[in-house]
Amino acid sequence: MNVISLKNLEKRFEDHIIFKGVNADIERGEVVSIIGPSGTGKSTLLRAVNFLDPATGGEVFFKGVKVDKQNIDITRRKMGMVFQNFGLFSHLDVMGNLTVGPIKLLKKSASEAEAAALQLLKLVGMAERAHHFPYQLSGGQRQRVAIARCLAMQSEVILFDEPTSSLDPTMLAEVMAVIRNLAKSGMTMLVVTHEMEFAREIANRVFYMDEQSLYEEGSPEDIFNNPKKPKTQEFILKIRSFSYEIKNRDFDFAEMLGGVENFCFRHAVDKKIAGRLQLIAEELVVNIIAQHYGECSLKVSFSSKLGNYTLTVGYKGANSNILEIIGDDLPVILVKKSAKTVKHEYIDEVNIITATL
Ligand SMILES: Nc1ncnc2c1ncn2[C@@H]1O[C@H](COP(=O)(O)OP(=O)(O)O)[C@@H](O)[C@H]1O
Ligand SMILES: [Mg+2]
Repeated sequence: MNVISLKNLEKRFEDHIIFKGVNADIERGEVVSIIGPSGTGKSTLLRAVNFLDPATGGEVFFKGVKVDKQNIDITRRKMGMVFQNFGLFSHLDVMGNLTVGPIKLLKKSASEAEAAALQLLKLVGMAERAHHFPYQLSGGQRQRVAIARCLAMQSEVILFDEPTSSLDPTMLAEVMAVIRNLAKSGMTMLVVTHEMEFAREIANRVFYMDEQSLYEEGSPEDIFNNPKKPKTQEFILKIRSFSYEIKNRDFDFAEMLGGVENFCFRHAVDKKIAGRLQLIAEELVVNIIAQHYGECSLKVSFSSKLGNYTLTVGYKGANSNILEIIGDDLPVILVKKSAKTVKHEYIDEVNIITATL
């Protein structure tokens, strides 16, 4: 049975159309990842689905019943939402956050609500901290409490809006683990995320939003490996690479290295390969090319066709392979040792060094 049906959904702010013609049927137990460039209406779509900010056209059906003014409160309760910034009640401890809704809105007794809350806290690994206040918790812990709070309201659907985007990598992993378990337990979920590996792995369907609509949808395999439409193809290609422009010798090398590390993390790059990519970026870009040329550009990308990673550095000037010029200096040796192949090309007056792993 369809838990959610969207019929010709449209949202506009005054004259500005955010999306239109959105049609989708989501069955019980489905996990749908929603991806796309920022500003394409992903958050707006989630808010329209649970009537936090209703659509301006079309209809939302929840379990076959059209959502309207009469049943909007109940429906909204059945579709819990988890945001990037957690949204916990700061004056209540964890237990209070989980029980206030069930007591006030679901008319549960305090003891009943607390017993249920404790079970849910166990589920997300937070039982030990039932009496901590939000400010005493890390971002990842807060987000796990926010998820448990949705479950405490007996939500039948959970809408996640970038649940991990304000978390650092360790916390990101703990929250993803909890969401993954929920997916396995058969919870129906819509997940807006920029974590592409996560989006791919967790979902049975992926929605790609662009061009004021649900531009393309399909299985994770379809969308990530064989996108059919041009905007989707462009997006998938872009997220599979990381680019960085270096303007001079004093560039922010830490930001660049952080970007490479982040790329590796987001793409679940094998740890060994990730370590080598980072080492090459540091030696080749920071210690060699930026030192000699100042200006250069870095691109790290994954080729699904060839199944390998490439790190490319471009620098302008006369045709010269800097690695040969420098010879057997330590940075050069490290680069050559870390890559499978390193080649130099000269194209349109740009020297390009490509390390393949
Ligand atoms: N309350 C609002 N009033 C006017 N425009 C809005 C409002 N909320 C969002 N928008 C606009 O709607 C578009 C989509 O926003 P959003 O749904 O947040 O995109 P995404 O989540 O995909 O990044 C943006 O252009 C944004 O500026
Ligand atoms: Mg958003």
